[in-house]
Amino acid sequence: MRLPTGPNSLPRHTIFHYLLIVSLLLIKLSNLTSSQPMNVKVGLIFDPASPSGMIAKTTAPMALDDFYTANPNSANRMSLLTRTSPGSDIVTSASAALELISQEEVHAILGPGTSPESAFVAEMGTKAKVPIISISSTSPSVSHSHSPFFVRAAANDTAQASAIAALVKAFGWRRVVPIYQDDDYGSSLIPYLVDALDNADAQMPYRQSIPLLANEDEIETILATLQNEQTRVFIVHMRVALATKILALARNMGMMSSGYVWILTDGLTSLLSWLPEESVEGVLGLTQYYPMTEKLRKFKTRWTRHFLKDYPKADPEVAQTLSRYAIWAYDAVWAVANASEHVKQIDNKFANSTNGSTDLSSMGASTTGDDILQAILNTTFNGLGGEFKFVNGELDLSVFYIVNVNGGKGRTIGYYTPKYGLSKKFPVESNASYSTSRDDLGPVIWPGESTVQPKGWVLPTIGRKLRIAVPGPVQEGFKMFLDMETDNTTNQTTATGFVIDMFEAAVEKLPYALPFEYIQVLHVKYDDLVKMIGNGTYDAAVSDMTITNNRSKDADFTLPYMASSLSMLVPVRNERSKNAWIFLKPLKADLWLGSFAFFVFTGAVIWCLEHRINDEFRGPPSNQLGTTFYFAFSTLVFSHRETIVSNLSRFVIIIWVFVVLILQASYTASLTSTLTVQRLSPTFADIHELLISGKNIGYLEDSFTKDFLKRTGFVENRLLPFKSPDSYEEALSNHTIAAVVDEAPYLQVFLNKYCDNYTMVNLPNKTGGFGFVFPRGSLLVTDLSRGILNITEGDESTRIMQKWFGESLTCPPQDNPFSSQSLDIVSFWGLFLITGATSLLCCLIQLALFLKENRHHIRNITSISSFRTSLRSMARLYDEKDLSSHTFRKSQPSSPYNFGSSPYNFQPDTPMSISNHSGGGLFSSEQMSPITDEAEMHGNYSTNETPNHGSA
Ligand SMILES: *[C@@H]1O[C@H](CO)[C@@H](O)[C@H](O)[C@H]1NC(C)=O
Ligand SMILES: *[C@@H]1O[C@H](CO)[C@@H](O)[C@H](O)[C@H]1NC(C)=O
Ligand SMILES: *[C@@H]1O[C@H](CO)[C@@H](O)[C@H](O)[C@H]1NC(C)=O
Ligand SMILES: *[C@@H]1O[C@H](CO)[C@@H](O)[C@H](O)[C@H]1NC(C)=O
Ligand SMILES: *[C@@H]1O[C@H](CO)[C@@H](O)[C@H](O)[C@H]1NC(C)=O
Repeated sequence: MRLPTGPNSLPRHTIFHYLLIVSLLLIKLSNLTSSQPMNVKVGLIFDPASPSGMIAKTTAPMALDDFYTANPNSANRMSLLTRTSPGSDIVTSASAALELISQEEVHAILGPGTSPESAFVAEMGTKAKVPIISISSTSPSVSHSHSPFFVRAAANDTAQASAIAALVKAFGWRRVVPIYQDDDYGSSLIPYLVDALDNADAQMPYRQSIPLLANEDEIETILATLQNEQTRVFIVHMRVALATKILALARNMGMMSSGYVWILTDGLTSLLSWLPEESVEGVLGLTQYYPMTEKLRKFKTRWTRHFLKDYPKADPEVAQTLSRYAIWAYDAVWAVANASEHVKQIDNKFANSTNGSTDLSSMGASTTGDDILQAILNTTFNGLGGEFKFVNGELDLSVFYIVNVNGGKGRTIGYYTPKYGLSKKFPVESNASYSTSRDDLGPVIWPGESTVQPKGWVLPTIGRKLRIAVPGPVQEGFKMFLDMETDNTTNQTTATGFVIDMFEAAVEKLPYALPFEYIQVLHVKYDDLVKMIGNGTYDAAVSDMTITNNRSKDADFTLPYMASSLSMLVPVRNERSKNAWIFLKPLKADLWLGSFAFFVFTGAVIWCLEHRINDEFRGPPSNQLGTTFYFAFSTLVFSHRETIVSNLSRFVIIIWVFVVLILQASYTASLTSTLTVQRLSPTFADIHELLISGKNIGYLEDSFTKDFLKRTGFVENRLLPFKSPDSYEEALSNHTIAAVVDEAPYLQVFLNKYCDNYTMVNLPNKTGGFGFVFPRGSLLVTDLSRGILNITEGDESTRIMQKWFGESLTCPPQDNPFSSQSLDIVSFWGLFLITGATSLLCCLIQLALFLKENRHHIRNITSISSFRTSLRSMARLYDEKDLSSHTFRKSQPSSPYNFGSSPYNFQPDTPMSISNHSGGGLFSSEQMSPITDEAEMHGNYSTNETPNHGSA
């Protein structure tokens, strides 16, 4: 387009042009603004009598007003078409929904209030492609995944289950009973609750459903049954209308008193103010968490006003508490209003519609439904209750307040989050770990204004008792284990004994009451008894039954309350008389050898010290050897006679004799104990000796030991059954059997009676010990096992054992402390060290003195000859008599020779002089004479070699 560009004509032309455009635009704009926003019809179905319905009726218009105040320029306007379904009747709400869908052609429906209604309406909505948004149908039985057009502007109930379980665990209750209304809403929580409680070690012994239309009498009957049972923890999951009746009746029946625990689920806790105040005193409850914001507080005052305008007769208490339902309803309306902006075309909404027909089967489908549903599901905004966002068609809220109701108001005592469990604060510190601890909850005032935490159970006044089988009859001699007696007239069995006491002690440790009765079961083998427990003939068996692999296939065993092992009872034989070498026993070989070596060593030392100065240690080598050894070994009995002349050797001898004294005393003591204490040893040391011996073996009748023996390799005809300790004794003493193989506890009982002649040999095979039997999968097994551990780890089991088996379960020890092991060198090395060191020291002193005395002579020798020759010369020098010694000087007058100046001064003593010195010596002079000759020769030889000796 080419416009004239002349300077004169251009501006006027352009201005006109522009004015035209602007005026056209203005006309267009005024046309737009004056046109009405498109009306988007949305239905609201509510029960005018139910709390959630009443709340929705007040809240929805408020939310709508707020939305369009906040978004004045919205293209579409949502209008609410309200319909009621009194009594939450499925048919009424379905027909209301049908009317809204096919005649009003609504784009979405809010409501209805209850899960059964919602389930049906959700199907209709899905068929007609009209989104159904519910705020109070929290049952998991209706869900977006089943009915795609069903959207829950709330969380489903299942998240509560784990919160309740955590609460139950924190307070340590082991059994809880849910009371729920008998419809979809009530019952669909139960499976989730069972699972969650299972993880919390708690169980649901039974559950109580209450029909919606139950009258007072019926409810009273139901409550009376609950009252008679032992569990005192109730979880109430129902709508307000029914709960009001039940709680009030429970209160009248005294069930809102101390000892009882009531836990309300979210549906009730969030409508606490609607329940009669006095009948919820002390109850616990949980309700979904929402942050308390300024926005919420402002809304609350407004809401109260509106609510009182709608329901002028309403309880002010109700009007003043903003329920979780109001928040959900408000946010749901916002979400729908938000989504209605996406509605583009309203004409021709229903395809294939037979306009206005109320025929369900010919219902049309909305052409815009998919868009609106997507828009609703896609909506996210910051609502009254925090962030509003759909996950799988419902809100994902899993944080709970845990409240304790006091004075009609919920007091928050803690929070529950799936990740951290219970906590006193929210948000939880991120480093916290999962907790189900009581300490993470504030103080609770329980029903009856009690501050004592109820234990959750009482002894039931009626109710089925556990039928516990006690096998009999018990043989004489084993009655301390188990004994029973049945009253002829009442059929009541009383049982006593160690086993019974252990069982009853364990039952006492249970965190709940366990009513039971004993039933005598006569003449039944233990293996069959286990099968009877397995198939439910009895509820449990309490007996001295060993836990075996085979038996555990039919039933469950508790942990053993008494350890046991297989043992062999055999006669003992006395070893004493048979051992010819018993005198060697007190000392070990090393001590014998060590002592011998020291005798020789000491003898040698004495010889060294005495040889030069004492005639008794001189003479022919064999004589010297004899004297030396004789001397040394005679110290053993302190009968050494040889006169010792050197002070050094006296010192050595004194120390040595002291050592010998101690050795001797130890030997004597050890030998005495060896001889006096009976040395008893089992005739068979292990089962294989027994197997080879070919002798017969006894076992306890009906015991599993028979199978064990057969597996070990014993042929059947070698195995003889016995019934009592006395029959064991009889058979053992007349040698019918060589041994009894049985479990240690029974053999102990036997040994307590017949201690003297028998002993017990433990076999390496371990057994499971004694346990109580329960049907497979019984929860009592874990609980009782815990009780058993508690008893056996403490001293209670010792007390029970002493009561039944006496002070000591064992024989006086057959291994006497005096028959201690043989002595070994380790216990004496100190003594040997002392004597060895003294002896060596004395030798060294002697050597030093010798070297000093003969230093000139030695210097001569060493200067002339080689080392070997000089060493030999020195040895020869040492062999000579030390004439300077006082012994020789004293004996000079009696000698026929002049030692001092004679050329024979190096000659040894004459026979006479030896006998003189030895004063009472063992050898007579006649015996000595040949030796003297040899010594003389020797002496002469020496003389030739050392001519200069005389100068010393
Ligand atoms: C209920 O909600 C939980 C999350 O809170 C979800 O995992 C579960 O699938 C829901 N169950 C149903 C049936 O919608
Ligand atoms: C309407 O009916 C026709 C056939 O009667 C069918 O092909 C079509 O899919 C229907 N449309 C809707 C939206 O249900
Ligand atoms: C949902 O929202 C996302 C962004 O938040 C958008 O991309 C998507 O198109 C939306 N879907 C619908 C169906 O509106
Ligand atoms: C009842 O007891 C008596 C002995 O006290 C006994 O002889 C009798 O057999 C018993 N009766 C039954 C049915 O057990
Ligand atoms: C006792 O028990 C037996 C069977 O175990 C039964 O036949 C009998 O009637 C019972 N007696 C009483 C008094 O209960």
